[in-house]
Amino acid sequence: MGDIAHLRSLLGEHTDFPKKGIVFLDIFPILRDPVAFETLITHFVHHLTSVTIPQHGKRIDVIVGLDARGFLLGPIIALRLGAAFVPVRKQGKLPGVCKSAVYEKEYGSDVFEMQADAIKPGSNVVVVDDLIATGGSASAAGDLIKQQGGITLEYLFVIGLKFLNGKSKLDAAAYSMIEVDD
Ligand code: ADE
Repeated sequence: MGDIAHLRSLLGEHTDFPKKGIVFLDIFPILRDPVAFETLITHFVHHLTSVTIPQHGKRIDVIVGLDARGFLLGPIIALRLGAAFVPVRKQGKLPGVCKSAVYEKEYGSDVFEMQADAIKPGSNVVVVDDLIATGGSASAAGDLIKQQGGITLEYLFVIGLKFLNGKSKLDAAAYSMIEVDD
């Protein structure tokens, strides 16, 4: 089995969580397996260094991780690249002056925030999260990056729910390691 198929086989599937009609895809079984977790991180870092950076001809200054599971992946990727890590959090969690953006998700609406001085204008940014569903949260993160004058080069996800077409909401290319069709 290839690396990606192996990671796909480790995903947990929870029917009707957190709401009826949602099949929740759980990356935690990958994180419990150190070899699989290393494969996942190495795959993302390889994608960024061999595809994203050469394509744009720019370095990556900032990795933005989305609340909550983007916090488990983003800092590791940022350290491997020598980039800054910046969290986007649900409203009311970050201290100091924050920028905010409202978004709709697969199961409800929410407000995302970023600290107002987190990204220097002109910085090249990559957004990381575990999963793209309708694209609402990633697009709100893109909005926060733009509000600060950052340039989003790419959105990275472990899982893409292709049938929800979330990538069409985004202002830059999106890469999902595992595409789920239905
Ligand atoms: N976030 C939004 N939809 C999800 C899903 N189906 N599984 C895991 N996380 C999600």
